[in-house]
Formats: sequence, structure tokens, C-alpha cells
Amino acid sequence: MQDRKTFYITTPIYYPSGNMTIGHTYTTVAADTMTRFKKLTGYDTYFLTGTDEHGQKIEKKAAEAGVTPIEYVDKIVAETKELWKLMDIEYDDFIRTTEERHTRIVQKIFRQFYDQGDIYKSEYEGMYCTPCESFWTPTQLKDKDGEKVCPDCGRPCQPMKEESYFFRMSKYQDWMIDYIEQHPDFIQPASRANEMINNFLKPGLQDLCVSRTSVKWGIPVDFDPKHTVYVWIDALSNYITALGYGTAHDELYQKYWPADVHLVGKEIVRFHTIYWPIMLHALGLPLPKQVFGHGWLLFGTDKMSKSKGNVVYPGPIVARYGVDALRYYLMREMPFGSDGNYTNESFLTRVNADLANDLGNLVSRTVAMIEKYFDGALPAWTDEGFVEAEDAPLRDHCAALPALVEAQMDKLQFSQALTEIWKVIGECNKYIDLTQPWILGKDPDKKARLANVLLNLAECVRFVGVLVGPFMPKTPARIFEQLGLSDDSLKSWDSLGNFGRLPEGLRVKKGEALFPRIDIKKDLELLSGSTTAPAKAPAQPAAPKAPEGDKPQPAGEIGIEDFERIQLRAAKVLTCEKVKKSEKLLRFTLDLGTETRTVFSGIAKSYPEPEALVGRTLILLSNLKPRKMMGEMSQGMLLSALDEASGALRLLTVDRAEDVAPGSEVG
Ligand code: ME8
Ligand code: MG
Repeated sequence: MQDRKTFYITTPIYYPSGNMTIGHTYTTVAADTMTRFKKLTGYDTYFLTGTDEHGQKIEKKAAEAGVTPIEYVDKIVAETKELWKLMDIEYDDFIRTTEERHTRIVQKIFRQFYDQGDIYKSEYEGMYCTPCESFWTPTQLKDKDGEKVCPDCGRPCQPMKEESYFFRMSKYQDWMIDYIEQHPDFIQPASRANEMINNFLKPGLQDLCVSRTSVKWGIPVDFDPKHTVYVWIDALSNYITALGYGTAHDELYQKYWPADVHLVGKEIVRFHTIYWPIMLHALGLPLPKQVFGHGWLLFGTDKMSKSKGNVVYPGPIVARYGVDALRYYLMREMPFGSDGNYTNESFLTRVNADLANDLGNLVSRTVAMIEKYFDGALPAWTDEGFVEAEDAPLRDHCAALPALVEAQMDKLQFSQALTEIWKVIGECNKYIDLTQPWILGKDPDKKARLANVLLNLAECVRFVGVLVGPFMPKTPARIFEQLGLSDDSLKSWDSLGNFGRLPEGLRVKKGEALFPRIDIKKDLELLSGSTTAPAKAPAQPAAPKAPEGDKPQPAGEIGIEDFERIQLRAAKVLTCEKVKKSEKLLRFTLDLGTETRTVFSGIAKSYPEPEALVGRTLILLSNLKPRKMMGEMSQGMLLSALDEASGALRLLTVDRAEDVAPGSEVG
């Protein structure tokens, strides 16, 4: 027997500097969807993801949290794995760059580069962006209000000077240009290839600084241990260390390398299509077949990012609408390669239109009519029930669908693949209007025709059930249950080789709506705020700090990004008492869902009966710098309105407090 064709796909390994966002989820869902599709179509697949755990940023975050770097990342890695489980991500391996299997081989690779003269020792002077872990040359920096800032994230860079090892990238510049030009599929979308050549390669590739003495949290260079390996050299190697490259057990490497595709966000295409190929080439290894740089999920006009604090987390969305709805949205909403905006509204609208209406209605109408007209048992196909002009177009289209979907998937055009499937769903719904089964049902002579109509629909539903599986792993089983289909051989890719295989006599069974209709207006209110906090560990204020010495800006118009720096939360009063030595202060303990806080508020004169406030839900400015009051820390500020005439202060509360969980975001 011939070995099956292999398919190796990777995501970036993410920085565990904070909880993973809907952006990380986007890439990971795409990789999972692709893997499932390749599996469905008969490939032997391998799907790698993981975390990039070294570097200054993590070192800093851990210090801020008062824990060691490994304690810090262990917690986030555990939460990341939980999130991937929640999202139905089925990876084959999750590599962490702190694992010995990785660090040992990175040291070995680094030494080989040094031994063969690709790496040399010198001194480095340049500008460094800590949040991005990137060095920039003066020409690459951007100008912002007279300051030189990072071209990726727009934040200030710091000058850095240190003894360092350098990789002779310059030596490979011409080879790299040739390679990219001769392999038009290597960088996708193609526009990104031009960008690499014109912006980075043609202007001249600088030698890359590949070690740091200033970063302790990294892999030591084994022959010069005051240096640690630059995080990108460390991180990129994961794609082969995870496969056992360089060890005695490199079966996976032998089997799966070169990767079929590295999925990455467009901001890290440069690392994957210049540095990584050069590293591999210097090692004498084949290059990945393709690097696909997809677009960004934006939040407003900004890229969401953990370090900017403007993020959407998948947890609350999945909890309410199910994982398949979110996976569908992510793969459908924007073409892979382009940027798109995440909004709760576009999500809810898609779920209603595509899932509740188009798909959900097709399944429920089909099943309901089989129940009504054939007592729930699938009738037999007949020649006399066939009407060429009505049936042939739908049947032909549906029969062609697997190939149409595969052609799009081979280009990683997830959204287009779904569009193809939804065209057939739309055609089915039109076919119902055209054939009018409810009229046929009134005429006993039309029984055979009615049978074929419903069979055509049921068979289309079977096709759709198989084809949506890679995108929405939970949905096929729910569809097949309603069709009464248990035979696995009719749920396979091969079973889509001919149309019309549903057997007579299947007992259909109407179930719950696949995707219940959403009251968009109501749910928009419900969702607002809740999606911008991670599911489990909400709200350590992530608002950017004002630059040193910044004067308060005069009031006037502000942008929404200004408001987003303010974190307001619903807080439920657990206790409230007058502070003995003060006329003005009340001392509150507040429930914020995941934590309890003590807050002092100067409103005693307006609330002579403080106990009466217990149980009320108030609004807390929760990211105000804590300050010491009456010998204790006050953690935040309760909002109140001042009546100028009487001087009375009235606390802000929420409408229908029973609907608002403590800790809910206000915004
Ligand atoms: O860059 N839209 O890690 P990272 C789309 N450790 N994709 C997004 C996104 C968004 N808003 N936010 C994140 C690193 N992503 C390095 C990678 S690889 C050897 C080392 C996805 O935590 C997207 O895939 O900053 C992006 O490239 C990646 O997460 C960045 O993750
Ligand atoms: Mg990043």
C-alpha cells in the first residue's frame, strides 16, 4: 500500500505574555480547519502550535506580577490549552520553547552556525522595541511627533549597545531574492512577496544580531553563556525541534518536513520568509513549501493586541453561542489574507443570516416535511419523480461542490470555500420555493414527485453536513442525527463521490434548532463589554500608561481610544460602613466577580445609612492607581453624580442589577 500524502501545518508560537485573544484564536482555528479538511480528504496530517516563552517582555511581565518567568508562563500556557480545547482545536503537538527538547537543539543549531562561520562576534548599536522584541535600523523607524518609534507598533524604541553575535544574513541576500522570485507560491498572498523583496531584501539585508547579554530569560549560548539566543532564532526553530530534528528520534522530522504551510499574521511574515529560510538554507535543510501571511482582525481601526489592551476574548462568545458559531464567523467574515473588523454586531448578524436562517432553516424544513409527508421515513428515489429542469441543476451543483470547496481550501481561501457551500444551501432554499412541496403534498398523485424533492433536499443536507465539518466540528453530528444517519461511510469525503446515496427508510428526527435565532438588539446590549475581558482571569487593568511628564489634557472631544483607557466595572456592595475618624468617608468592600476590593468613598454625608447600600450594584473606576487612605489601600473609585445646588452625591447604579454579574465591564 502506498503511504498517504502528508500535510504539516503550523501556527506561530504565541507569546504567553497575556491571555490569548480572538486574534490568536483566528490563526489557530484556521490551522485546525485546514488540518481537519486535509484529514477528511485522506491526508496524513500534523498540526503544531505552541508558545514562545523567552525574552524581555515575558521577563518584565513576570516581574510585574511578582512571580518567576516560568511560573508566569505556566499559568498562561495552561489557560491557552484550555482555550484551544474550548475551541475544538485538535493539535498534534504543543511545543513550549522552555522545554529541554527545544532548548538543547537550539543550542546545537546556534553552535553549528558559529562553527561554519555564519555567526560571528561583534558589537551592536541600534534601536530596540521591547514589546515587539525587534531591532530596527534608523531608516526603518517611523517618525511620530518628532520621536522615533517602532514601525510595527508605533511605540518608542530604546537605544541599545552590547557585545553580540551576528548572523551573516547579507551573505544570503541574493540567494533569498532568487528563491522568492523563482517560487511564486512560497509567500502568499503574493503581494506580501513583493513587499519583502522591495522593502527588506533589495535595500540590502543587514546582518542580524542574534544574541543578547541584556536578556537573562532566554536560551544560553552554550559556548559563551553570558549570551542568550535572540528570541526569533529560538522561536523559529520550533517548527523543526518539535519534530525531533537533530535528535536520534527524528522520525517525525523525516516524515513531515518540509512543512506544507506556516500560517502567520502579516506582521511576522518578514521573520518567516527571510530569516527562517536563510537559517534553514544555512543548515542545509529544505524550506517550508509556503508561508501564508493572513490579515488582522481589527478592533476599530487598531490591531488588537495584548500589549495595547484593546482585545476581544472568545470565551464569553463561545459560552453564549457555541464554538461552531464563532469558528464559522472567523473563517467566513473576511477573506484569508485581508484585514477585517471584529464587531459583536457583525458576528450576531452572520449567525442569524447564515446559520439560523440559511443552514438552520434548510435542515429543519427538510426534516419537518419528511416527518409530515412520509411519517419520518425516507422514501425511495423513483424515475417518475424526477423533473429534469428542476432537479438537474441542483443535483449537478451539489455533486460538484466537493471539488469547488477543495479548490478554495487548497488556496487557504476559507471564506470562499464557505461561500461555495452556502451557494448550494441558498439554492436548496430556492428549490423549496420552486417545487412547493406543500402543494405537492395535497395531491396523492404527486407522491413520487414529492418523494424525490425531499430526497434531493435531504441528500444536499448530507453533503453540507460533511463539508462544514472542518469548519464547525460539532455541527455534522447534529445534522446527521436529524437525518437519522448513523452509517459512517455516508459521512466521508468519498461518499460525496456520487449524489443520491441516502438509503430508503432512514428515520429522520426533528431536533432542536441548530442555531437559534438571536434578538440582535437585545444581545448587543448583553454582550457589550463582556467580550473584551478574558473568560477566566478578567481585568487586570491593561490600559496604556501616559508618557512620563504628560500634562492632563484639557477636556474637549476625546476619541473612543481615550475612553478605552478607563476601566469601569459593575461592583456589588458586600459591606459598607462609616469610617470612625472621618466625617466624609465610607468604607466599602466590593465584589468584582473574580476578586474583592476595598474602596473608600467621600460620600458619608449623602448616605447617613450606609448599611442600606449593601447588595446594590455600583459603578467602579477599577483601573485607578490604588492609594492609601486611613491606613489601608483604596482600590478604585466609585462614581457618583453631584447635585450642585444641594451638594448631595448620588451613587451611579445599574438598571436591573439582577441581570448584571459583579465585575461586568461598563462602557
Ligand atoms: O508574534 N488578528 O507572538 P504573538 C489576526 N511569538 N491575527 C492575530 C491577531 C489579530 N488581531 N492577534 C494575534 C509572536 N494574531 C511570536 C511568533 S513564531 C515563530 C513566533 C495571531 O503572541 C497572528 O497569527 O504576538 C499573529 O501573527 C500572532 O497571533 C502573533 O502572536
Ligand atoms: Mg505580536
